[in-house]
Amino acid sequence: TERVLTGITTTGTPHLGNYVGAIRPAIAASREPGVESFFFLADYHALIKCDDPARIERSRLEIAATWLAAGLDTERVTFYRQSDIPETPELTWLLTCVCAKGLMNRAHAYKAATDVNAAAGEDLDAGVTMGLFSYPILMAADILLFNAHRVPVGRDQVQHIEMARDMGQRFNHLFGQGRELFVLPRAEIEEEVATLPGLDGRKMSKSYDNTIPLFGGGAKGLKEAVARIVTDSRLPGEPKDPEGAALVTVHDAFATPEQRSAFHADLRAGLGWGEAKQRLVNLLEGQIAPMRERYVELMAHPERIEEVLQHGAAKARRVATPFLAELRAAVGLRPML
Ligand code: TYM
Repeated sequence: TERVLTGITTTGTPHLGNYVGAIRPAIAASREPGVESFFFLADYHALIKCDDPARIERSRLEIAATWLAAGLDTERVTFYRQSDIPETPELTWLLTCVCAKGLMNRAHAYKAATDVNAAAGEDLDAGVTMGLFSYPILMAADILLFNAHRVPVGRDQVQHIEMARDMGQRFNHLFGQGRELFVLPRAEIEEEVATLPGLDGRKMSKSYDNTIPLFGGGAKGLKEAVARIVTDSRLPGEPKDPEGAALVTVHDAFATPEQRSAFHADLRAGLGWGEAKQRLVNLLEGQIAPMRERYVELMAHPERIEEVLQHGAAKARRVATPFLAELRAAVGLRPML
């Protein structure tokens, strides 16, 4: 069997980028024969960026409901909260002890923070916590603990998965005694949607505040968000270039190949942006509306979601607990007798 694993940080409301970059491909992979899947709420990761407990709680609920509404089958998939798995921080420490500091110096999130500080003439590490600095080690523990082969993600996570491979490889080399303790994971990326653009054309991201929420705001909110996608100023009747337009990329992420070529051809022939937006709204609404209905229903029953997550945590720990015991033994932390 092959293992597929992915997680979403619980700091905001799920958006179209999370859906096409992670949720949709992960659920599709979980339906393949011979695949065992582990999907989780990365709530320890949320603490790195967010010190508002209410926001984290709300986001955990929303992201859990989103996975379930999107069609995750809780019988097939192990679905859990990161913070319910104490083996994860434990493995994080074992990996921290073999991870070169220089590797972490190169991590995108940390480098972005030091670049901003450098530009402002501040101390490079101003405002940088150890959580942010060693973020990729926690993520490596998430992945390696379950020996995931495939990790469906958007492009922004690829570096982290490569770092997880590095750490796994080093650990295998130091402690495996010729055996592969860890499977080395690979990122699974869908090229066309690896970086879905947001309202302003930059990567759709909670930190840029340019997201289109999947369910938040309902059908009306979706329509309003689409209306705010930036386009060029060409008028109806003028030919438009579909390449590189955020609106078109979002459209294509949800369209069949036939729908894509028809949309591109119509734009080249002068379809107005207003009408193009209406077509995008119809396309999105057709796919999102049935999920939104389930989402609203689930959000009204947090107790059901809690039950699902606890069941998932128990299932995940049946894998994690014996494996961590093996890892502890491998590094020299076995019981005396
Ligand atoms: P996060 O919460 O930022 O994003 C969750 C997933 O959504 C993808 N994504 C996108 N994909 C395409 N276009 C976009 N604009 C876009 N924005 C977000 C992300 O690539 C990601 O797949 N560190 C991770 C969470 C995590 C994790 C893990 C992932 C923790 N442990 C282990 C995989 C395996 C994160 O913050 O993702």
